[in-house]
Amino acid sequence: MKKIMIQDMPNHIGETVKLGAWLANKRSSGKIAFLQLRDGSGFVQGIVVKAEAGEELFAKAKGLTQETSMYVIGEVTKDERSTFGCELQVKDIEIIHEADNFPITPKEHGTEFLMDNRHLWLRSRKQHAIMKIRNEIIRATYNFFNENHFVKVDPPILTGSAPEGTSELFHTKYFDEDAYLSQSGQLYMEAAAMALGKVFSFGPTFRAEKSKTRRHLIEFWMIEPEMAFVEHDESLEVQEQYVSYIVQSVLKNCQIELERLGRDTAKLEKIKAPFPRISYDEAIEFLHKEGFDDIKWGDDFGSPHETAIAEHYDMPVFIICYPTAIKPFYMQPHPDRDDVVLCADLIAPEGYGEIIGGSERIHDYELMKQRIKEYDLDEDAYAWYLDLRKQGSVPHSGFGLGLERTVAWISGAEHVRESIPFPRLLNRLYP
Ligand code: 4AD
Ligand code: MG
Repeated sequence: MKKIMIQDMPNHIGETVKLGAWLANKRSSGKIAFLQLRDGSGFVQGIVVKAEAGEELFAKAKGLTQETSMYVIGEVTKDERSTFGCELQVKDIEIIHEADNFPITPKEHGTEFLMDNRHLWLRSRKQHAIMKIRNEIIRATYNFFNENHFVKVDPPILTGSAPEGTSELFHTKYFDEDAYLSQSGQLYMEAAAMALGKVFSFGPTFRAEKSKTRRHLIEFWMIEPEMAFVEHDESLEVQEQYVSYIVQSVLKNCQIELERLGRDTAKLEKIKAPFPRISYDEAIEFLHKEGFDDIKWGDDFGSPHETAIAEHYDMPVFIICYPTAIKPFYMQPHPDRDDVVLCADLIAPEGYGEIIGGSERIHDYELMKQRIKEYDLDEDAYAWYLDLRKQGSVPHSGFGLGLERTVAWISGAEHVRESIPFPRLLNRLYP
């Protein structure tokens, strides 16, 4: 007999098949039992009719505990109401392992309890759907960059430098030297772009930020493209095309998951390049008009500010040209102004905040040298980075997209902790 997965069931209508599955849930009467089966690829209903199955099998089905693992043998039949368009008429059940008091039941649970049981919580329908969407975004990312001839490059995780400022670093010993966990692969990606033209990285990054918001993780995954001979405006075009591409891929390939999450897909369908752009100056003016008297030119935006700006559009919005003083050392100055830099943050709709940070990079040797001094960075640690500006330096730009914030936005999850399998949070290293 053929062992298949739930997602392949529509191709086996009328056949008797074998599934490896867990019991997600069940309900039964005296005559019929409905088993909600899951196998990772999907969820499907198994039906056991007492009159057909016989006393013994029916009693076995009725006695199954939540999350018991088993092989189920049955006939695949059509059922228009179910997500896969079919169900299983159960003929036999072979229990593999009986689960013992699975802690996460269909009733409501508190967040801390669910987080303590994250290793089991991942099995639930909602978490399963979010992980599938995360996977689709990863798949679409590789597709997009491969189609556009970017080369994947893997920067190191143990580093001696701090691209995004020294306050949020995880320190560790590297034998006799000091090292830090990477907070961005950007500097290395710049070197790679000079070798390979268009490159992208995708890996874990670490921020020892004492932030406890629904947008901050201590460990998160970032996609960091870097492009030689690409200037600020051209980089924005790549960003909007990339974000449109992943949203449209999820809409196309994760219909079941979006529906299970109750996501308003009409809002996602609108996400198509080009995205609006406003300058930092305009954003400040807009906020003053909206009654935000707490913010003045030169301040960074907090999440209420970002949300107010985002609510004005039904698209992600680029805020461009921030004050030099609130951005990292490597950003290219504006050609006509010395108080702002050629950078952009992309703010997601619906209050999900900044999903991309990027900029054109300084390519002039003297200016970069001066910036490294001004920002009080260790010149020895940055010698190689400065060296890039001595050997055929070219204008180049890049950006970083935070995977978890993007997953949270597209799947409609309230908090980034649900958009990564095992979140590292301010007060959580378990499980
Ligand atoms: O804006 P950030 O700090 O930019 C950089 O690190 C650049 N070096 C990237 C580059 O140009 N190559 O971070 C980029 C993105 C943010 O827009 C956000 O989506 C995400 O990374 N991010 C976080 N996500 C979750 N938790 C955190 N603590 C995050 N910090 C940044
Ligand atoms: Mg940023």
